[in-house]
Amino acid sequence: MQKVLILDFGGQYNQLIARRVRELNVYCEVHPHDMPLEEIRRFDPIGLIFTGGPGSVYLPDAPKVDPGVFALGVPILGICYGCQLMAQMLGGRVTAAQDDSAREYGKTPTVFDESCALFTGIGGESVTWMSHGDYMAAIPTGFVLAAHSAACPTAAICDAARGFYGVQFHPEVDHTERGRDMLRNFLYGICRAAGDWTMADYKTQAIEAIRAKVGNGRALLALSGGVDSSVAAALMSEAIGEGLVCVFVDHGLMRKNEGDEVEAVFSKRALNFRRVNAEDRFLSRLAGIEEPEKKRKIIGEEFVRVFEEVAHEVGAVDFLVQGTIYPDVIESGKGEAAVIKSHHNVGGLPDCVDFREIIEPLRMLFKDEVRQLGRELGLPEALISRQPFPGPGLAIRVIGEITKEKLDLLREADAIFREEMARAGLDRTANQYFAALTNMRSVGVMGDGRSYDYAVALRSVQTGDFMTADFSRLPWELLDRVSVRIVNEVRGVNRVLYDVTSKPPATVEYE
Ligand code: XMP
Repeated sequence: MQKVLILDFGGQYNQLIARRVRELNVYCEVHPHDMPLEEIRRFDPIGLIFTGGPGSVYLPDAPKVDPGVFALGVPILGICYGCQLMAQMLGGRVTAAQDDSAREYGKTPTVFDESCALFTGIGGESVTWMSHGDYMAAIPTGFVLAAHSAACPTAAICDAARGFYGVQFHPEVDHTERGRDMLRNFLYGICRAAGDWTMADYKTQAIEAIRAKVGNGRALLALSGGVDSSVAAALMSEAIGEGLVCVFVDHGLMRKNEGDEVEAVFSKRALNFRRVNAEDRFLSRLAGIEEPEKKRKIIGEEFVRVFEEVAHEVGAVDFLVQGTIYPDVIESGKGEAAVIKSHHNVGGLPDCVDFREIIEPLRMLFKDEVRQLGRELGLPEALISRQPFPGPGLAIRVIGEITKEKLDLLREADAIFREEMARAGLDRTANQYFAALTNMRSVGVMGDGRSYDYAVALRSVQTGDFMTADFSRLPWELLDRVSVRIVNEVRGVNRVLYDVTSKPPATVEYE
C-alpha cells in the first residue's frame, strides 16, 4: 500500500490534512517533524506533507526537519509554516510581515497559475483560508511563483523539477474553495498515487493480521455499544470468532432499549458474548450522591470492578482489545489541557485483567473510517451512525441524585425527543441531541388540578470537534410537538425547556 508521510509542526489543522488525504483514498500517517531520516526512508513515502505550525522559521528554536528529506527524490507539499520552512531551508528568505497589510487571516481571494501542477484545473481566482503573520520575502532558486493574493505575492511556490510545492494558505480546510482539488492534484498528479486505500481492503488485511497474531489464543473486549468498541468487536469476531469474549456491562444508565439493541446485534454474531446486568449495583452505589465528579468516579470504579469479576470468570486471556482510534494516538504525548470533566470511557481497562498483550485494531483509523469499516462488516446503520453517548451515560444527564424512577422518566422523554428529531430529518444535521432531567420541580396545571413535577431540558448542538458547540436552531413546530408529547406521555414532567447556551461557556452535557 502506498503511503504519504505528514510531518507535524504543531498546527491546529494537522489531523484534518490526514483525513483529507485518506478521504482521497491514499493512506497517510502523521509523525513528529523531527522523525529521523532513516525512519522516513523506511516508511518509504510516495509524498511528504509539511503541516502548518505556530512557530516562526527564523527563530532559533523553530521546529525543523532533517535537511536530508530534500534529497530523497520524493515530492513535498509544504503548508503555511511548512511552506515557509521549505523556502528557508532551500535558500529563500522568510520575514515577519512589517505592516498589517501583509499579514493575512481568514478568507482571501487568491489568483492561481494553472501551469503549476498543483493547480491543474484550478486556474483563475478563488477563495483560500490564510492564517499567517510571516511571509516569503524571497523564494529559493529553482522555484517559481504560482499564486498571489492582494497582500501577498508569494501565496504559492513550486519547483516542478524537484517536485517541491508550497502554499501559504490551508488547502485542508473547507474555507479554501478548491482545497480538495489541490490535494488531489498533489497526490494523483504529482505523487502518482494509485488510490489504493479502501476500507474493503483494510478489512481483509486487518483480519489477516489479527489471525496471524492471535492464532488460537483468546481475546477479551469491553463492549460499550459505542461505535468504536462495536466496530472493534465486529472486526475481531470476523477474525477469530469464538476466540473473542465480549463483555457488555449494562450499568442501567443506557438510553431506552439500548442494552437490548446491543445484545440483539452481538448475540447473533460468532463470538462469545456476555451481558452483565449490573443496574442494581450501580444504582445502589450512586444512591444519595449529587456531586457530578463523584458520580463519574463511582461509575468508573464500579465498571472496572464488574469487568474484573467477569474477567476472572472467563479466566486467563492472551489479548485485551481496545478501541483506540487514530486521533487518540496522534494526540497522546501532547500536553494535557485543563480537566473540565474527568471523562470516563467504557473501554480501556489494562490494569485489571490477566493478559499478555493489547490489540488495538482501529488505532490507525479516523472516526469516519471506523464507521466505514463498520459498514463493511455489516453492522446496522443505527449503531454505526449513532451520536456520541458519554461513558457514564444518563447519570450525567440526571442532575443531582440518581434514582431508577428519574432514569426511567428521562429515558421516556429522551426517546420522544429522538423520535421526533428523526421524523423531522434533523437527526442527520444535529451532531448531538438529548433530553436531560433538571433537578427542578415547578408548579403546573393539568386538567383542573395543580401539579408539582420535574422540568425536562432539551439539548441539541452543532459542532465538529465537540470542543466548541453552538445550540441548534430547531424549528418551533418541532419543539412544540416534543413538548406536548413529553408532558402528555411522561408522568412526572410538567415543563419542557430548550437549552440555548453554546459551549463555551456551557458544556454539551449537564454534569
Ligand atoms: P462536554 O460535556 O465536555 O462534552 O462538552 C463533549 C463531548 O464529550 C462527551 N462526553 C463524554 N464522553 N465519557 C465519554 O466517553 C465521558 O465521561 C464524557 N463526558 C462528556 C459528550 O457527550 C460530548 O459529546
